[in-house]
Amino acid sequence: MNLAIIGLQWGDEGKGKIVDLLAKDYNYIVRYQGGNNAGHTVDVDGFEFVFHLLPSGVLHPKKIGVISDGVVINPKELLKEMALLEEKGITPNLYISLGCHLIMPYHIFIDGVIEKNQKIGTTMRGIGPAYIDRVGRCGIRMADLLDEKLFVEKLELNLLQKEYILKEEFKQEEIRSEYLSLFERIKPYLVDTRAVLNKAIADSEPILFEGAQGTLLDIGFGTYPYVTSSHTTVGGISVGTGIPANRISEIMGVIKAYTTRVGEGPFPTELKEDTGENLRMKGREYGATTGRPRRCGWLDLVAARYATEVNGVNSLVITKLDVLSDLPKIKVCTEYRMNGKPCEFQPWISDWSEIEPVYIEFPGWCRDIGNIKEYSELPMEARDYLEAIEGVLGVKISLVSVGARRDQTIKL
Ligand code: IMP
Repeated sequence: MNLAIIGLQWGDEGKGKIVDLLAKDYNYIVRYQGGNNAGHTVDVDGFEFVFHLLPSGVLHPKKIGVISDGVVINPKELLKEMALLEEKGITPNLYISLGCHLIMPYHIFIDGVIEKNQKIGTTMRGIGPAYIDRVGRCGIRMADLLDEKLFVEKLELNLLQKEYILKEEFKQEEIRSEYLSLFERIKPYLVDTRAVLNKAIADSEPILFEGAQGTLLDIGFGTYPYVTSSHTTVGGISVGTGIPANRISEIMGVIKAYTTRVGEGPFPTELKEDTGENLRMKGREYGATTGRPRRCGWLDLVAARYATEVNGVNSLVITKLDVLSDLPKIKVCTEYRMNGKPCEFQPWISDWSEIEPVYIEFPGWCRDIGNIKEYSELPMEARDYLEAIEGVLGVKISLVSVGARRDQTIKL
C-alpha cells in the first residue's frame, strides 16, 4: 500500500511528525516536490530535528529516503543537512534522482531581485527561479554534472541569458569548481529513482510520499500568485516521481486545528489581535526555515473542503489540537460570503478583502489534553470540534496529534 501525506492548508500543518510516526510501516519515504523551502520538524526523545530537503522518515534506520525528480536541490544545503544528521550518529539511506534540477547561486540572487518588485514573501532559497529555469528548458540537472563539458556549456548559457539581471555578480569559474566538487560528494547517492520506485511497486514494497508545503500553496490550485512554484497537491506525486497515479492507494490530508500562513497572500480567517498572538506563542508558530512569525487564524473549513476535494483525501489527521486547550471559545469558518452571497474557495479570487468568513462557535475545553491517549478520553467539547470537521469535510479522522512527541498521538 502506498500512502501520500498532503498538507491541506498553507503548509506547516505538522506533516513531519506524521511522516516520522508512520514511516516504520513503509520501505521508502519520498520527497517529490519543493526544495529546502520546506521545514519539517520532528521531535524524538527530546531532540528536535528540522528537515528541509531530506525526507523526515530517514530517522528510521532501515528506511530508504528518496529525493525524486520533482525536487529542486541546493547541493550545499543538502550536504549540510546530511552532516547535521551524521553529527547525531545518523547516516541516512538515501537515493537522489539524476533528474533533480539544481538550485544555483544565481537563483537565490534572482529570488531576492524578484521579491523587491513582487512581494510574495518567499523563503529566499531560490526555489521559484530554479523552477522557472526548469519550465524554461534551460535548468541544470544532477545528470548534467556527470559530463563536465555539458555542465559548463549549460552554465555559460544560463549566465548569458540572465546577464541583464546578474550583471557582473557571478563568475562562471567559481560556480563550476564549487558545483563539481559538491557533486563528487553527492554522486554516490544518485540513481534513477523512477526505476527504483516502480520496481518497489512491482515487488509490493510500501512507499510513503511526503508532501511539502500545502495545497493552498500549489502553483496551479493555490492562492496564486501567493504560492510556491511546485505542485503541492497529490498530482505532484506522479509528475514528480514518474510513478503512475493509480499506484497511490491512500491519501491522508493533514490539517492543523487552526490556520497559519507565512509570507504574503490572502488569509480570510486571520486573527490580527490577541487571539492570533496567543496561538502563535502557544503553537510556537515561527517558520522552521526562516524563523519568521507565522500569521495565525481560525480553522478555515471552506478552504479545507476545497483542498480535500482537490486531493481526493480519504483520511484526515488533525494536528496541534492541544494548542487550542486554553481558549474559552473557538471559531470555525464554514462558509464564505461575497457581497452577502455564499461563495466557494476559488484560486482566482482577485480581491480577497471582499470575502467575508462566516463562523460557527464552539465552547472550549479549557484543560490540558497533552497526555490523553484514547479518543474517548478527550473532553466532549474537543470531540464535538473534531466531529464538526469530519462532518463538513465528509472524511473520517484517523489520527489526532496533541503534542510534538511521537507518543502524543491519538489513533481513531
Ligand atoms: P518559496 O517556496 O520560497 O518560493 O515561497 C513561496 C511562498 O510559499 C511563501 O509565502 C513562503 O512563505 C511559502 N512557503 C514555502 N515553503 C513553505 C513551507 O514549507 N511552509 C510554509 N510556507 C512555505
